[in-house]
Amino acid sequence: MSLTARRLGDSFVAEISGVDLAQGPDDSTWAELHRAYLEHKVLYLPGQRLTAEQLCRFGERFGEIEPHTVRMYRHPERPGITILSNRVETGRPKGIRDAGSHWHSDYSYKAVPANVTILYALEIPDEGGDTLFCDMEAAYAALPDDLKVLLEGRRQAVQYRWHRDRGHPESRWKLLSPEEQAESPEVVHPAVRTHPETGRKALYLFPGITSGVKGIIGMDPAESDALLAQIWAHCTQERFVHRFKWSGPGDLLLWDNRCTMHHATTDRLPPDRHRTLWRINTRGTVPA
Ligand code: SIN
Repeated sequence: MSLTARRLGDSFVAEISGVDLAQGPDDSTWAELHRAYLEHKVLYLPGQRLTAEQLCRFGERFGEIEPHTVRMYRHPERPGITILSNRVETGRPKGIRDAGSHWHSDYSYKAVPANVTILYALEIPDEGGDTLFCDMEAAYAALPDDLKVLLEGRRQAVQYRWHRDRGHPESRWKLLSPEEQAESPEVVHPAVRTHPETGRKALYLFPGITSGVKGIIGMDPAESDALLAQIWAHCTQERFVHRFKWSGPGDLLLWDNRCTMHHATTDRLPPDRHRTLWRINTRGTVPA
């Protein structure tokens, strides 16, 4: 197979054609695909037809598949797949209705966060449910020098779904079982990480509740809050963001969580516009 990568508009995201993932890419196609992943950070591969097993096999090319912290949305036969869906079947949600309608990077709350996320679409509404991506390398590169100096060597404390308001409906105290809470302790990560494969630097600070950033270690809380607000206002400028529009079942989207953040928009999807996807995350390396 020989693949083609075509940039979507003037964004960093690329559409890939010439790859049938059901066949399992051969080594040279895999090498090309992996190069495109490191270059573009987000890849779109439309028109795939995959079983759960084929999706997992492809995911394993990136690393060890890591099931989601919340058990109830794991695929019944393939627990490494998380089901995202706004469908309700026999009175129960079929999957996570809204997996992150806020800026985040997957598993950034774990000591060893995810490298790749793969989303495979089973059903897509005619309108809505777009996914937004932010290029955190470009955002870092464009930071004013004084902010780069201020962030140099800084570390942040993070805990899954931590929020100042313990009563917040999406906070860890409201959503996680005691077991899930015990499995998601506070971790410490650098504020800026160096990509282990490309050597490029990216901001590694995310505002969404799932990311649970408690603050920059060693800074006064007010100073840390002000700095984080400034960083997040900078990152989310239009020039660093791409809005991805899903086209239909068989769409496969994958991205590098080490240098991007993303934002679902499913919180705004009317319940009669059905959207169901399978998601896989693989274990990366300790951020440094
Ligand atoms: C996610 O945040 O992993 C899911 C993104 C989406 O559903 O658009």
